[in-house]
Amino acid sequence: MNKSGLALLASLCLFGSITRAQDAAAGEKTYKAKCASCHGQNAEGKPAMKAPAVKGKAADDIQKQITTSPKHSAVKNLTPAEVKDLAAYLATLK
Ligand code: HEC
Repeated sequence: MNKSGLALLASLCLFGSITRAQDAAAGEKTYKAKCASCHGQNAEGKPAMKAPAVKGKAADDIQKQITTSPKHSAVKNLTPAEVKDLAAYLATLK
Protein backbone atom coordinates (compact mmCIF):
# COMPACT_ATOMS: atom_id res chain seq x y z
CA MET A 1 0.00 0.00 0.00
CA ASN A 2 1.32 3.52 -0.77
CA LYS A 3 1.82 6.22 1.83
CA SER A 4 -1.45 8.08 1.32
CA GLY A 5 -3.33 4.80 1.52
CA LEU A 6 -1.73 4.10 4.87
CA ALA A 7 -2.50 7.59 6.14
CA LEU A 8 -6.11 7.21 5.09
CA LEU A 9 -6.35 3.86 6.82
CA ALA A 10 -4.78 5.27 9.99
CA SER A 11 -7.17 8.21 10.08
CA LEU A 12 -10.15 5.91 9.52
CA CYS A 13 -9.09 3.77 12.47
CA LEU A 14 -8.61 6.82 14.64
CA PHE A 15 -11.98 8.21 13.64
CA GLY A 16 -13.61 4.86 14.32
CA SER A 17 -12.28 4.61 17.86
CA ILE A 18 -13.25 8.19 18.72
CA THR A 19 -16.80 7.61 17.53
CA ARG A 20 -17.04 4.43 19.54
CA ALA A 21 -15.87 6.19 22.70
CA GLN A 22 -18.55 8.84 22.22
CA ASP A 23 -21.21 6.20 21.62
CA ALA A 24 -20.25 4.44 24.84
CA ALA A 25 -20.39 7.70 26.81
CA ALA A 26 -23.84 8.50 25.45
CA GLY A 27 -24.91 4.91 26.11
CA GLU A 28 -23.73 5.12 29.71
CA LYS A 29 -25.98 8.15 30.29
CA THR A 30 -28.98 6.35 28.81
CA TYR A 31 -28.17 3.20 30.76
CA LYS A 32 -27.84 5.01 34.11
CA ALA A 33 -31.05 6.94 33.49
CA LYS A 34 -33.24 4.17 32.09
CA CYS A 35 -31.85 0.72 32.84
CA ALA A 36 -29.71 0.84 35.99
CA SER A 37 -32.70 0.89 38.35
CA CYS A 38 -33.52 -2.67 37.32
CA HIS A 39 -30.31 -4.05 35.86
CA GLY A 40 -27.89 -2.58 38.43
CA GLN A 41 -25.39 0.31 38.31
CA ASN A 42 -22.84 -1.85 36.49
CA ALA A 43 -25.24 -4.01 34.47
CA GLU A 44 -24.51 -6.87 36.88
CA GLY A 45 -28.20 -7.65 37.22
CA LYS A 46 -30.50 -7.27 40.24
CA PRO A 47 -32.08 -10.40 41.70
CA ALA A 48 -34.60 -8.29 43.62
CA MET A 49 -35.95 -6.99 40.30
CA LYS A 50 -35.57 -10.39 38.62
CA ALA A 51 -33.43 -8.58 36.07
CA PRO A 52 -30.46 -10.50 34.63
CA ALA A 53 -27.00 -9.08 33.95
CA VAL A 54 -26.89 -7.26 30.62
CA LYS A 55 -23.12 -6.77 30.27
CA GLY A 56 -21.93 -7.16 26.71
CA LYS A 57 -25.44 -7.40 25.24
CA ALA A 58 -25.54 -6.67 21.52
CA ALA A 59 -27.76 -4.01 19.96
CA ASP A 60 -29.99 -6.64 18.34
CA ASP A 61 -30.66 -8.34 21.68
CA ILE A 62 -31.42 -5.04 23.36
CA GLN A 63 -33.73 -3.92 20.57
CA LYS A 64 -35.63 -7.20 20.73
CA GLN A 65 -35.88 -7.19 24.53
CA ILE A 66 -37.07 -3.61 24.90
CA THR A 67 -39.74 -4.02 22.24
CA THR A 68 -41.06 -7.43 23.33
CA SER A 69 -40.76 -7.71 27.12
CA PRO A 70 -43.57 -6.11 29.17
CA LYS A 71 -40.89 -5.13 31.72
CA HIS A 72 -39.55 -2.74 29.16
CA SER A 73 -42.68 -0.78 28.34
CA ALA A 74 -41.04 2.38 29.72
CA VAL A 75 -38.03 2.08 27.44
CA LYS A 76 -39.47 0.60 24.26
CA ASN A 77 -39.30 3.88 22.36
CA LEU A 78 -35.54 4.26 22.43
CA THR A 79 -34.22 5.18 18.98
CA PRO A 80 -31.98 2.76 17.06
CA ALA A 81 -29.10 5.19 17.70
CA GLU A 82 -29.72 5.10 21.46
CA VAL A 83 -29.83 1.30 21.37
CA LYS A 84 -26.55 1.24 19.44
CA ASP A 85 -24.97 3.56 22.03
CA LEU A 86 -26.26 1.34 24.84
CA ALA A 87 -24.67 -1.69 23.21
CA ALA A 88 -21.38 0.22 22.84
CA TYR A 89 -21.49 1.01 26.56
CA LEU A 90 -22.45 -2.51 27.65
CA ALA A 91 -19.57 -3.86 25.53
CA THR A 92 -17.13 -1.86 27.70
CA LEU A 93 -18.36 -3.67 30.86
CA LYS A 94 -17.53 -7.21 29.81
C1 HEC B 1 -38.61 -2.16 35.22
C2 HEC B 1 -37.34 -2.86 35.31
C3 HEC B 1 -36.48 -2.88 34.05
C4 HEC B 1 -35.97 -1.81 33.34
C5 HEC B 1 -36.17 -0.33 33.62
C6 HEC B 1 -35.16 -2.36 32.28
N1 HEC B 1 -35.20 -3.74 32.33
FE1 HEC B 1 -34.24 -5.04 31.04
N2 HEC B 1 -35.10 -6.63 31.99
C7 HEC B 1 -35.90 -6.55 33.11
C8 HEC B 1 -36.31 -7.89 33.50
C9 HEC B 1 -37.18 -8.24 34.70
C10 HEC B 1 -35.73 -8.78 32.56
C11 HEC B 1 -35.88 -10.31 32.51
C12 HEC B 1 -36.66 -10.77 31.30
C13 HEC B 1 -38.11 -10.34 31.33
O1 HEC B 1 -38.75 -10.45 32.40
O2 HEC B 1 -38.61 -9.90 30.28
C14 HEC B 1 -34.98 -7.96 31.62
C15 HEC B 1 -34.25 -8.45 30.56
C16 HEC B 1 -33.43 -7.70 29.76
C17 HEC B 1 -32.57 -8.22 28.72
C18 HEC B 1 -32.39 -9.68 28.36
C19 HEC B 1 -31.25 -10.26 29.19
C20 HEC B 1 -31.06 -11.75 28.98
O3 HEC B 1 -29.98 -12.25 29.32
O4 HEC B 1 -31.99 -12.41 28.49
C21 HEC B 1 -31.92 -7.15 28.14
C22 HEC B 1 -30.90 -7.19 27.01
C23 HEC B 1 -32.39 -5.96 28.82
N3 HEC B 1 -33.29 -6.31 29.80
C24 HEC B 1 -31.97 -4.69 28.53
C25 HEC B 1 -32.45 -3.53 29.15
C26 HEC B 1 -32.03 -2.19 28.78
C27 HEC B 1 -30.97 -1.87 27.73
C28 HEC B 1 -32.73 -1.33 29.56
C29 HEC B 1 -32.69 0.20 29.54
C30 HEC B 1 -33.00 0.82 28.26
C31 HEC B 1 -33.59 -2.11 30.42
N4 HEC B 1 -33.39 -3.45 30.14
C32 HEC B 1 -34.45 -1.60 31.37
C33 HEC B 1 -36.26 -5.40 33.78
C34 HEC B 1 -35.99 -4.10 33.39
